Amino acid sequence: MLNFELYNPTRLLYGKGQIAEINKYIDKKSKVLIVYGGGSILKNGVHAQVIEALVGYDVIEFSGVEPNPKYETLVKAVEVIKREKVDFILGVGGGSVIDGVKFISAAVHYEGNSIDIVQKKLNVNWKAMPYGAILTLPATGSEMNCGAVVTIEATREKLSFSGEVLYPVFSVCDPMVIASLPQKQIANGITDAFIHVLEQYVTYPQNAPVQDRFAEGILQTLIEVAPKVLKDPTDYDAAMNYMWCCTMALNGLISKGVHEDWVTHAIGHELTALYGIDHGRTLAIIGPNLYRVMLETKKEKLSQLGRRVFNLNGSDDEVARETIDKMVEFFHSLGVQTKLSDYTDDGNRAVEWIVNRFEERGWVAMGEKKNITPAKVREIVKMSL
Ligand code: NZQ
Repeated sequence: MLNFELYNPTRLLYGKGQIAEINKYIDKKSKVLIVYGGGSILKNGVHAQVIEALVGYDVIEFSGVEPNPKYETLVKAVEVIKREKVDFILGVGGGSVIDGVKFISAAVHYEGNSIDIVQKKLNVNWKAMPYGAILTLPATGSEMNCGAVVTIEATREKLSFSGEVLYPVFSVCDPMVIASLPQKQIANGITDAFIHVLEQYVTYPQNAPVQDRFAEGILQTLIEVAPKVLKDPTDYDAAMNYMWCCTMALNGLISKGVHEDWVTHAIGHELTALYGIDHGRTLAIIGPNLYRVMLETKKEKLSQLGRRVFNLNGSDDEVARETIDKMVEFFHSLGVQTKLSDYTDDGNRAVEWIVNRFEERGWVAMGEKKNITPAKVREIVKMSL
């Protein structure tokens, strides 16, 4: 295991009714900007709960943050904050809204051109505006991490950035919000969390048995709760555990002391930028094929996963291959398709487009062993068509 530092200042307010508690953690004199998306919170009662919790505060709103939040939209919120002298931001939504708020929080006091935060993937280490999050879609883990993904529409770039100052001050995770989620979004969320764990776990043995067993526990729990949540999103116990899996999958804990991969995400972001495919679904298209192409590097962890999570037996080689098939089976059981051709007839152009983009950015040696080269990326995307 590598040396590591663990720092995570986010206060989690987990469970039913916790939205009412947010005023304990926002200074009473604050002017608050509520940021949200396309309006689902107006229909499912979350907005009303937030307004009730903020009685007595000076509150203004900014709506319209789209899925895969756009830089071009978010800069408008930055202008509002400066003009209206806002002190605290409250993001109410899924990963897109929370990531959007992270950008806004970083951009308010940034002195250069804020597009650089995204385009140059800056490490945000200057003063950020404090913000809280009310999560409405369990998936990304954005509620307890300091990373964000923003799309620049003008250049069709979907890029991640991060910074220690970008952790939410608090995040409310009330599983009651799941009841209004379309099935498709629940399936996306489960897939996203599942692949988050795999990006940190399916590498090579790194003498990190605690991280491994946490990771396996999250995967086992996701497999267990997925059919229950999909069948009945009002099943509170299942919803609470689904939400907790998503937070735990990407709050930084299981990645401590180990080398990680993240190439499935890098390729997946390009598929969203090119075709608008939902984030979780891009991961289900790429992940299994990345594991097939990188089988020799990842065989030991894949077979450990197969034996411990899918109860498989056989040689390492057999179990590793069967494990990948089991992953695909799991995604299909959620209604998530795993071929690019299931989403677009125009998949072929992705191959060279992605390889060229990665080469232009100097992303030519990726993954936990820096052995995912442009040739490997080409093979992975071709296998995913
Ligand atoms: O915009 P509204 O009206 O809120 O509708 C949203 C949106 O249309 C809807 N929704 C959210 N909660 C709902 C609801 N509808 C009904 N009831 C509710 N309770 O769901 C749609 C999708 O929302 P979105 O926020 O886009 O989904 P998700 O949470 O999956 O976020 C995806 C974004 O997060 C990034 C992705 O790349 C993508 O841009 N990621 C962020 C990460 C991070 N910060 O650590 C890691 C992830 O891997 C991911 O890359």
